[in-house]
Amino acid sequence: MGFPTTRMRRLRRTETLRRMVRETRLTVDNLVMPLFVRPGTNEQRPITSMPGQYQWSVDRLVEEVKTLEGLGVPAVLLFGIPDAKDEFGSAAYRPDAIVCRAVEAIKSNCPDICVITDVCLCEYTSHGHCGVVRENRDGVADVENDATLELLAKEACCHAAAGADMVAPSDMMDGRVGAIRQALDGNGHEEAAIMAYSAKFASAFYGPFREAAESAPQFGDRRSYQMDPPNQREALREMALDLEEGADILMVKPALPYLDILQAASERFDVPLAAYHVSGEFAMVKAAAAQGWLDERRTALEILTAIRRAGARLIMTYWAKDAAGWLA
Ligand code: PBG
Repeated sequence: MGFPTTRMRRLRRTETLRRMVRETRLTVDNLVMPLFVRPGTNEQRPITSMPGQYQWSVDRLVEEVKTLEGLGVPAVLLFGIPDAKDEFGSAAYRPDAIVCRAVEAIKSNCPDICVITDVCLCEYTSHGHCGVVRENRDGVADVENDATLELLAKEACCHAAAGADMVAPSDMMDGRVGAIRQALDGNGHEEAAIMAYSAKFASAFYGPFREAAESAPQFGDRRSYQMDPPNQREALREMALDLEEGADILMVKPALPYLDILQAASERFDVPLAAYHVSGEFAMVKAAAAQGWLDERRTALEILTAIRRAGARLIMTYWAKDAAGWLA
């Protein structure tokens, strides 16, 4: 039955009607706030390319987490900026690593908030790559997969020992979820969950993050380990493998340009799905809003709702704090 009997506008007439037939709901429960922690005290250093985002010292980070908890944000995702970097990223897997100190401080002040830690080496290596660099068979410097696994597993265990509820490997080495699961279980951390950055693409949208985390690669790029953007089938395979290796949550990253991957994954997998709305996606809206070209709040909520609609239960977003306020 078509027009004029059928009129789609009938159910759009009032906000109450729209509320009643709304198919997707974004709530504060879906939001995870990424936070950057650096050494020092009383530090809140602005990140130029991500307006409103900061590198925090541990003491100030705890205050920010208290505010987030008060707003109902259920989880934070921590990134560390160490005081010194070396070839093997050793500042990532010491018991007194900056992220471990942050986890302990958050856990003793806000025991209920879920603390997730990013597990990767790029913030800690002098060369800025996500693992151990060696020459490959062509004589080209590249990240060596298997040697990196051991270091990632060590890092994940340090985070779990400090009290992290969940570790989130973002390095894209083969076999890292299995290696981390095995190491966690072998060290009495069987309760720590793994959120795998499973379908992580070699994306231009990470630009601002690399300023925030001081983690830009000093040579080359990440294309030999992060995924090639045109590939959907391969992304689903990555996700299936991570699930087999023991991942509790599967992530797609970036979010908006990869909603098709998220949708396909939500049809295929029964585990909770996450999406990382990354720094570049955030920065472009911020820049346009600063020009008066976009309404930041409406744009942000539309984007986050679209990510939910495509199938993500959890969204890592730099808008988590603002959105918690907007949704209240
Ligand atoms: C670390 C990591 C990156 C991001 C999250 N974890 C950067 C990268 O892979 O270069 C990006 C997050 C963002 O852009 O907001 N490997």
